[in-house]
Amino acid sequence: MSENNVLKGNGDKGFSRRDFVKYLLAGSSVSIAGLSKLNASIYQSITDLNQKYIQDEAPDGVYWDAIREKFMFQDGLVMMNNGTVGPMPKTVFNTLIKTFKVQATSPVHTYTYIPRQKEEIRSRIAAFINASPDEVAVVRNTTEGMNFVANGLDLKPGDEVLLSSMEHPGGTHPWKIKEARCGIKVTEVPIGLPPKSVDEFVGSFKKAITPKTRVISVSHTVYISGLISPLKELSQMAHEKGLLVAADSAHGMGMLDLDIKELGVDFLATSPYKWLGAPTGVGVFYVRKEAQDQLWPTITTSGWDRPTARKYETLGQRADALIIALGEAVNFQNYIGKVRIEQRIKSLAGYFKQELKKIPGAKLHTSEDPYISGGLTAFSIKGVEPRDIVDYVRQKYNIVIRTVGRTDRGTYGCRVSTHYYINHREIDQLLEGIRKIAGQRN
Ligand SMILES: Cc1ncc(COP(=O)(O)O)c(C=O)c1O
Repeated sequence: MSENNVLKGNGDKGFSRRDFVKYLLAGSSVSIAGLSKLNASIYQSITDLNQKYIQDEAPDGVYWDAIREKFMFQDGLVMMNNGTVGPMPKTVFNTLIKTFKVQATSPVHTYTYIPRQKEEIRSRIAAFINASPDEVAVVRNTTEGMNFVANGLDLKPGDEVLLSSMEHPGGTHPWKIKEARCGIKVTEVPIGLPPKSVDEFVGSFKKAITPKTRVISVSHTVYISGLISPLKELSQMAHEKGLLVAADSAHGMGMLDLDIKELGVDFLATSPYKWLGAPTGVGVFYVRKEAQDQLWPTITTSGWDRPTARKYETLGQRADALIIALGEAVNFQNYIGKVRIEQRIKSLAGYFKQELKKIPGAKLHTSEDPYISGGLTAFSIKGVEPRDIVDYVRQKYNIVIRTVGRTDRGTYGCRVSTHYYINHREIDQLLEGIRKIAGQRN
């Protein structure tokens, strides 16, 4: 099939890639073509850096400084709260603007040329997380994915779902509403702050299982404590007992070298605007092939009966620019390399933990074991109000971190995200700020 035929679509007969480029050039001359060129030059520069600075060389310095330059932080903002919302790299922003501009200038192409790119993006996402394209739905965020799981499973009154005691509201309330509506039982399983080992974590769930248990629904990336739940071991145990496993991996895509097949879960939802560099408003929802006939779609129009995960994204017209930009965010991380990114993030977190521990009264809420921790580090300092630390480092160094957790549960503290663009000097500044506030306590 010729390229021109491939690009033909309903309502836009005979429109080819060449025509599209011509339209772009005529309608908006330099800017759109310029944005594409700009992206190509940014990627070329990352390729050059990769060739020059081999893996593990220069833990700080030229390589990561140059990568930082691919972002657009205003006024020296030091963003250490990816756990809430992260930045978009320039290439993602360029692609987003370029794609939205199509709607502004020629809406016809938003439902002809642009949607035709989405299947290729689905395949790119699937390869990135080690899933099949038939197992990937592009949704709006983690909350939506977790709601799809709770809403879409046929459970009877009395059937039980196990959650951890540290779930995000977006992972708890979909089950709470099902409990109120359908009479299922939701049970919270206490987990350590942090758990001491994989066995401790998996053992708590194993002990809590009853003959009525059907599903274990847990955070992969625990927002309160920074725990990376050992899903591989949990899924093995749960599947041996015939249970389904749902994972809230809001922070996983972009922070970890995510390999969903290895994790073995049945459902996973992630929000790539935190660590991957995608815009807000677009998320990824994975449903294992073998679990798809057990999960009904929640939002439907035509297509809900398709035999693939595409049935979970039948939402009518979408903001496709967000999806195209998500594809660009995957490209951006691929240029740096997922393994390199996870190593960098974990080594920065490791440095922060190692130095934080030296501060009198400091308590790490996050494990020091890199197998069950990642880029989120939570901590408290005896006698120190976490909000005072957050406010001080923002005002003094323009460093953004946040408070997290609850006093009545003993989880209240500060949470720091160490993404790859952060450097050791900034972590030292953060530590200096923490020491200063800790030193003021009586
Ligand atoms: C662990 C966890 N789950 C779910 C969410 C909700 O994510 P979203 O608002 O993207 O749905 C968050 C947000 O911070 C989170 O940290």
